[in-house]
Amino acid sequence: MKRAFVAGWPISHSLSPHLHGYWLRQYGIDGIYEAIAVEPVEFTSFLQSAAASGYLGGNITIPHKLQAFALCRKVDSAAARLGAVNTVWMESGLLCGANTDSYGFAASLDAAAPEWRECGAALVLGAGGAARAVVHAIAEGGVRAITVANRTAAKAHQLARLFDSGVTVGEWENRNRIAAGCGLIVNTTALGMSGQPPLDIDLGDVSRPAVVADIVYNPLETPLLRAARAKGLAAVDGLGMLMHQAAPGFESWFGKRPEVTQGLRRHLEPLLSG
Ligand code: ATR
Repeated sequence: MKRAFVAGWPISHSLSPHLHGYWLRQYGIDGIYEAIAVEPVEFTSFLQSAAASGYLGGNITIPHKLQAFALCRKVDSAAARLGAVNTVWMESGLLCGANTDSYGFAASLDAAAPEWRECGAALVLGAGGAARAVVHAIAEGGVRAITVANRTAAKAHQLARLFDSGVTVGEWENRNRIAAGCGLIVNTTALGMSGQPPLDIDLGDVSRPAVVADIVYNPLETPLLRAARAKGLAAVDGLGMLMHQAAPGFESWFGKRPEVTQGLRRHLEPLLSG
C-alpha cells in the first residue's frame, strides 16, 4: 500500500486527509494519507526517517514549512523563492521539496475567474507566508504591478524585497484607494476567518471586471467576498486554492494527477466548521 502523510502541529483540523482520501477512493488507489502531529523539536528526525518508515512523501504544514525547506536536497523554483516547502517526496534516495501554494492559488483563479491574468494591477493584503505564495503566483502569472499592504509595514517591505521592482509596498491605511485602481484584490490576512473580525475595506470605487479573492475558506463566503458579489465583481474563495495545491503532491506519491471537481468541493464543504 502506498503511504503519504501531512505533518503539522497541531494537525487535527487539517482537511487534507479528507481531500486525499476522496481522491484515493475516487481513483481506486490502494493508498493511505495520514495526518501526523509532529512537534517542532521532533520534525527533523520525523522527516529524515519518513522514507524508512514507509512513506513515499507528504505535505508539510504550519509550523514546519521553513524547516522542511532547509532539509530538502532539491527544491522547485517556487520553494526556492519562498523559502518554504509544503510538499515532499523521494527521488533516488534524496528528499525533494516543492511549494505548491502558488500553483494552487493560480489554478484556483484560472478555474473561477481566468480574466485575472489581464487585471493590470493587483493589491495583496497581508505579508505572511500565504502572501508570499500569492505574490509569487501573481507575478509568475504576468501581472506587472503588484502592491502589498500590511498592518505592519516592515513585513510588507521584507516581502517586496524577495521580488523585483514590480512588487511595491502600499500603506495599509490607503488600502481603499489602492484597491480602486486594481483589477485583482486578494486577502491573505486572517481577517474574515470565523472568530476574527472582518477585513475592513471599502470596494465602493473598485470597478468591474475586477476579481476579489480570499484565501480564507472558513467561512467560504467571507464578508469581503459577500461585498464583492454584491457589487457584481468576481469572488473567489479559499477552498479552491486548498484543493488545487494538493494535486501535484497526490500525483507524485500515488501516480495519478487528480482532478479538482465540484464533487470534491461538495465533499469538503460540510467539513468546514465556520
Ligand atoms: P500566514 O503565514 O498564514 O500568512 P501570518 O504570517 O501569521 O500567517 O500572517 C498573518 C497576516 O494577517 C499578517 O499579514 C498580519 O499582519 P501583521 O504582519 O501586521 O501581523 C495579518 N493580520 C492578522 N490580524 C490582523 C488584523 N487584526 N489587522 C490587520 N492585519 C492582520
